[in-house]
Amino acid sequence: MSKAKFTEGDCLDILSKYHGKRVDLVYLDPPFFLNREFRLEANRTDVAFQGSWNDQEVYEHIRHVSKLNSTKGLDLYLSWLYERLAAIKDVMSDEASIFLHIGTREGPAVSLVLDELFGSTNWRSTITWQRSHPHNNVTKSLGNISDYIYYYSKSDSYTFNLQYSAHDETYLNNSFNNADEKGRYALAPIIQERARKGHFFEHKGYTPPNGWRVKKEQLERLDLDGYIHWGENRPYKKIYLDEAKGTPLQNIWTDVANITRTELDRRRYPTQKPLRLLERIVLLASRPGDLVLDPFCGSGTAVLAARINGREGWGIDQSPDAIRIATERSSELDSKPESLFDTRS
Ligand SMILES: C[S@@+](CC[C@H](N)C(=O)[O-])C[C@H]1O[C@@H](n2cnc3c(N)ncnc32)[C@H](O)[C@@H]1O
Repeated sequence: MSKAKFTEGDCLDILSKYHGKRVDLVYLDPPFFLNREFRLEANRTDVAFQGSWNDQEVYEHIRHVSKLNSTKGLDLYLSWLYERLAAIKDVMSDEASIFLHIGTREGPAVSLVLDELFGSTNWRSTITWQRSHPHNNVTKSLGNISDYIYYYSKSDSYTFNLQYSAHDETYLNNSFNNADEKGRYALAPIIQERARKGHFFEHKGYTPPNGWRVKKEQLERLDLDGYIHWGENRPYKKIYLDEAKGTPLQNIWTDVANITRTELDRRRYPTQKPLRLLERIVLLASRPGDLVLDPFCGSGTAVLAARINGREGWGIDQSPDAIRIATERSSELDSKPESLFDTRS
């Protein structure tokens, strides 16, 4: 199992002392701009961390460091975040990416800070994660069931591994509606449509008007292996359901459930995120052996996702409770890797 490290403290202080640009992927889930306290489930009197920007001590500190004299909360929050993001950027390698998890209210303002630091040309995507089932108790508003994850790279040369999500049921039924002895299959074009010219040659007495999408040898191989479907007017390539990778990942993620009440035994921290969400990000934007940093690690989910997938993980949190829980979860991974942590469906 690959290595993990947890450091207690404000990520700004810790990262300012770290010299080097070794970090290949950053996931951060900082406190949102909310006026509430998050409490540990186990001991409801223990404040896990402050999410309140009205707290006098935090407020004074931010005012001091940001040299701002404003009484509004959001600009203080943004400058607090800006300082930490700048320190994070300094430790990222040139091929690294950053995923910032945030609420839909403050998200757009936070994205301007990211634009400023990383450059708008390095914006790669804004992911909308559906974090809960629809709310039924909505009367005068819409159910707020999503978070944003802003994805930026440090440069235009960045690690990216295309991921796939399962085809949805309707698409499966509408598209995979042919079958032969090898199983269900969908039809994909094998001849060029009007816009582009393809390879011109005759195959089994047929020459497509705009050519084939593949070369002669490739077509002959596909036909020999039974991958060509001859329709009434034209041939197609067969895509077998068993061999289909799924749909290339889009930026709306509705297929990763949050930690539910029935999984409370697994939930150790108030704002713990599902392992599958973090595994998807790790697989999407890092390589085995890379170093994944979560500077607001809470219970260390991103570090676990990194380790499960052969990356090294580094978590930082200013809460001693968080560091304790993250360290415990990480050592449980060493003793019971499959049973406790295999959340892949
Ligand atoms: C939303 S939680 C992260 C939860 C985490 N993603 C998980 O899966 O458990 C945010 C965390 O940021 C920590 N935090 C707040 N300010 C911090 C700072 N300046 N430096 C490091 N950690 C900080 C809090 O203690 C809290 O654990």
